[in-house]
Amino acid sequence: MELKSVTEDDAEFLFELLKQREGRVNISHKSTPDWEEHLQYVKNHDYQSWDIIWIDETRVGNIYLTKKDEIGIFIDKNFQSKGHGSEAIEQFMEKNGKKRYLANINPTNYKSIQFFGKHGFLHIQNTYHKKFD
Ligand SMILES: CC(C)(COP(=O)(O)OP(=O)(O)OC[C@H]1O[C@@H](n2cnc3c(N)ncnc32)[C@H](O)[C@@H]1OP(=O)(O)O)[C@@H](O)C(=O)NCCC(=O)NCCS
Repeated sequence: MELKSVTEDDAEFLFELLKQREGRVNISHKSTPDWEEHLQYVKNHDYQSWDIIWIDETRVGNIYLTKKDEIGIFIDKNFQSKGHGSEAIEQFMEKNGKKRYLANINPTNYKSIQFFGKHGFLHIQNTYHKKFD
């Protein structure tokens, strides 16, 4: 496995991943951007670090670190539950060298709760939000 910084060449793969994002795993409830918005985001993103997860010549997912040290990870559904997420998060945390990482997890996303728990993340708070349209 190799983690490589996101470039414009990855935009199409990342757009496909976005389409896979189900409502229940999307805690921020953002609507899916269109292609142009997505491309602009890939070019001008504000993550500290954003990598594509490669297995040989294949992109299997992406992992990012926000400026608040929150990790987000998404593995292509065809490659989930094969150990790739585990290898990627361990490599990513080592590479970024922080003393503390956060993860915002939707409480209905069982797989993700199991995943972060397995990697030593402890539950510290529940955040509520109220939206005005
Ligand atoms: C959550 C996610 C990153 C895990 O990566 P993965 O490569 O599928 O997981 P791994 O194969 O490395 O499994 C590691 C652990 O995750 C949990 N896990 C993985 N698949 C699971 C499943 N189908 N059901 C329950 N737990 C599961 C288990 O704790 C597993 O450990 P185990 O194999 O010892 O039981 C990945 O499934 C994913 O991208 N899901 C959709 C997006 C998402 O929810 N992202 C998190 C929001 S930030």
